[in-house]
Amino acid sequence: MDRWAVVTGASGGIGLEIARELARRGYALALSARSRDALEALAADLRAAHEVRCVVCALDLGAPGGADALARALHEASVVPEVLVNNAGIGVYGPFAEADADRVQAMLELNMVALTRLTRQLLPGMLGLGRARILNVASTAAFQPGPGMAAYFASKAYVLSLSEALDAELRRRGVTVTALCPGPTRTGFVARAAAERAAMLRGGLADARGVARAGVAGMLRGRRVVIAGWGNRMMVRAGRWAPRRLVTWIAGRMTREV
Ligand SMILES: NC(=O)c1ccc[n+]([C@@H]2O[C@H](COP(=O)([O-])OP(=O)(O)OC[C@H]3O[C@@H](n4cnc5c(N)ncnc54)[C@H](OP(=O)(O)O)[C@@H]3O)[C@@H](O)[C@H]2O)c1
Repeated sequence: MDRWAVVTGASGGIGLEIARELARRGYALALSARSRDALEALAADLRAAHEVRCVVCALDLGAPGGADALARALHEASVVPEVLVNNAGIGVYGPFAEADADRVQAMLELNMVALTRLTRQLLPGMLGLGRARILNVASTAAFQPGPGMAAYFASKAYVLSLSEALDAELRRRGVTVTALCPGPTRTGFVARAAAERAAMLRGGLADARGVARAGVAGMLRGRRVVIAGWGNRMMVRAGRWAPRRLVTWIAGRMTREV
């Protein structure tokens, strides 16, 4: 019997690399994002390279009813995931007072509401399997407020908090929940968020494949939080001891335009 993994945001970046990593480990893949052609190309690639089954669910997860539509499509394809990867996410960069209100709303719908709704809809089937894994892609942004990208940082703090709480609720019922927290990573994200001039990018960008590997390995080990990269782990650790106002100021320096 196939062991299915569902990956949202699988058409590029970290999600695509997570899908590759799971296929390498023998999972059948349900791939979701809006870009059908990119998903079909990845599915063909994974079938050829790893002889795994792949289905494509091309839809806008952030649109009203998007998460329910994906859950329905999976049900119709008889996919009950043993692994759910909530990766699809976008960023909005710049001062909140000048931000496009609709873009901020769309970001919150995708990063938080769709992730929560999809998890809730797929959870009964996953609990029924007796053993399943959820990987939620948060960010190192989750650990402190982020002036200059305030709503994005807050959305990722939500993902981290939800993941930790759900892991505590579900672990004894056979489902583990892992929050993957990458730092700045080389994907389409920065350009989509129009954040190319943010100071934090000066420190270099991580490789999406390495981030995906760390996330999948941590998820399969049942880790609650995976911070990708040694430097990011040190920064998060240091931030726990520093005054909140100082950490917030530093985050604002990192998001500023240079
Ligand atoms: N890159 C970074 O620096 C970084 C750092 C920390 C955390 N993250 C997080 O990592 C996750 C993946 O981001 P990434 O860096 O890989 O960015 P990316 O290359 O822009 O990929 C984002 C993925 O999400 C999908 N997506 C976007 N809007 C969608 C929508 N409305 N409905 C369905 N799918 C949608 C995109 O596909 P379509 O456009 O085809 O829909 C794409 O597959 C995000 O949650 C992001 O917040 C990224």
